[in-house]
Amino acid sequence: MKIAHISDLHFGAHEDEVRDALLAHLNGSELDLVIASGDITQSATVDEFEQARAFFSRLTCPLLCIPGNHDLPGMDLTRFISPFSRYKRFIAQELNPQFQSALVQVKGINSARMILPHWNWANGSISRTQCRDIKRTFAASNAPWRVVTVHHPAMNSKDFPLDVSLYNVRRFLSAVDEARVDVVLAGHQHHAYIEPRVMDGHTTLFLNASTGMSHRIRRQPHGFNILNFAPTSVRIDMLRYDKGQFTIFEAMSHSK
Ligand SMILES: [Fe+2]
Ligand SMILES: [Fe+2]
Repeated sequence: MKIAHISDLHFGAHEDEVRDALLAHLNGSELDLVIASGDITQSATVDEFEQARAFFSRLTCPLLCIPGNHDLPGMDLTRFISPFSRYKRFIAQELNPQFQSALVQVKGINSARMILPHWNWANGSISRTQCRDIKRTFAASNAPWRVVTVHHPAMNSKDFPLDVSLYNVRRFLSAVDEARVDVVLAGHQHHAYIEPRVMDGHTTLFLNASTGMSHRIRRQPHGFNILNFAPTSVRIDMLRYDKGQFTIFEAMSHSK
């Protein structure tokens, strides 16, 4: 089973050429699912969401999408009255979606918040209810591979230190451990990396994606990931954009 992990598309602050190359690569990859881990838009405007919806409508496989901090309107009343109304109208009603197959169970968790007890509302948080939801989802699944996607990363890359941006991260990690989640997909940092974490003999891979098409690149070019699941192994290809196309720059395999 083949799943693409794209993130931080930031429609409204994106590059058309990279968008087209990304769509062509996704549709040419015989995917079973695309997971988009938040920051679909730059400023959560109607126009940006319309562009995002048009892009997603051209995908030839199912999509599982979660919001990011940029998918909430800025300092206007909408943020406080109905923060996710535009996201729900244009992208998906469900903010914590799931995807089930015989091989892979995916659970999406919305970590974007209207307001946080911190000056930086770009940070994220995970609630007790969401942690219970993670445990319940995987307790009810027989799929050998367990994947969670969340916008804000729970682990930071050694080569890209950034303040922990996810509140209740310990609570989240303990739910991930208890549910024996295999892969946690995230974005937000616009930086791709894999951080393994071993707990009680079980390995969880924390996989981050770079920005798929936004001009807000940091230390890395645009990129995304493809995960190839077999019954007892997964191969992860990390792709980067260069000279008009996406190519693999790093790959790793992990076995159960
Ligand atoms: Fe972003
Ligand atoms: Fe973000």
